[in-house]
Amino acid sequence: MHRDDFSMLDNVVYLDNSATTLKPKVLVDAISDYYNNYCSNSSRGDYKIALRVDDEILSTRNKVKDFINASNVKEIIFTSNATDSLNKIVFGYFKYNLKENDQVLITKAEHASNVLPWFELSDEIGINVDYIPLNDNYEVTLDNVIKSITPNTKVISLAYVTNVIGDIRPIKEIIEYAHKNNILVVVDGAQAVPHMKVDVKELDIDFLVFSAHKMCGPTGVGIMYGKEYLLNDMYPTTFGGGMNASFTFDKVREYKSLPAKLEAGTLNIADIIGFGKVIDYINSIGIDNINEYEKKLHRYAIDKLKEIDNVVIYNDFVNTGIIAFNYKDIHPQDLAIYLDKYNICVRAGNHCAKMLKDELKIKNTVRASLYFYNTKEDIDKLVKALVNPNIKNELL
Ligand code: ALA
Repeated sequence: MHRDDFSMLDNVVYLDNSATTLKPKVLVDAISDYYNNYCSNSSRGDYKIALRVDDEILSTRNKVKDFINASNVKEIIFTSNATDSLNKIVFGYFKYNLKENDQVLITKAEHASNVLPWFELSDEIGINVDYIPLNDNYEVTLDNVIKSITPNTKVISLAYVTNVIGDIRPIKEIIEYAHKNNILVVVDGAQAVPHMKVDVKELDIDFLVFSAHKMCGPTGVGIMYGKEYLLNDMYPTTFGGGMNASFTFDKVREYKSLPAKLEAGTLNIADIIGFGKVIDYINSIGIDNINEYEKKLHRYAIDKLKEIDNVVIYNDFVNTGIIAFNYKDIHPQDLAIYLDKYNICVRAGNHCAKMLKDELKIKNTVRASLYFYNTKEDIDKLVKALVNPNIKNELL
């Protein structure tokens, strides 16, 4: 679908969409329009082009709000990426709302960005970080969540879709159960929001994070969603221009209300404007259409890859566009480099989920990850490279 919008697709078979997606022309045009025609700062100028910038920023904020069905624009905070959003949530909210021996539940399949901030907070204030066990398919079940909860559990922090296995967690059920037990739920939506409808109201999500660059948007723009009462209670983690209402020589200061309070310094204006145009673009295709298309393409890919003797797939049961596999007796990195000879881009390694190896019993995998502009022809090219009888001779 829509391949003409992505000039890079003429040159590569791009199957690394979980790392970042390609960028459509509409994004590049919007960014260059800003730099060429109305470049100015936001929330600071009283002249026409600066006011236009303010309008564009507000417009993107509104589009993000609608995209995830938040209640109002104050709940949408621009950050630099999902990692930055998670760090702000941990150090701006939970640092002041958790105490020693409170428990945070995560899993061993989480991305580093949903692990390391919690470890740091644990060292700082003495919270306990514990793991919800995964089932034999490396998935989270509601049962295992329930069994893991203790009277000290205050937070559950989970990816909606994991970045290696690609399983979809039963987030709605987990949140329902968590809320009955006064537990807040943080959802890492980096691999979910670009691929499926995520409705924060319907799911009753407390905090949601995601990155623009994984949904055809620019790098350097992340979103932190939080329910308004939680964000009101969040302390800024960066301080400076834009976020203060006043300050005096004797340290008396007043910070602005949401969202400015949590967005110190000049925003990534060009990219935020570009992201707004990208949301229009994604909406014009339809997130449900994207989801349906990816699921069909994924099934096609799994069926084809399963026919290859030496290929071991670890997650053929999932219903997303992420395929984690290995080729017998070839190191994943060597395979990725081999595939690159055919201009096929995949990622190899542990994919920032460094604890998952404890569950998978294998350290590294090759990951092919799909988006709506991939085709059956892309999969056929991957398969052709993998069935090459000379594959081992062509390594390095
Ligand atoms: N989180 C990104 C990935 O899974 C970078 O590749």
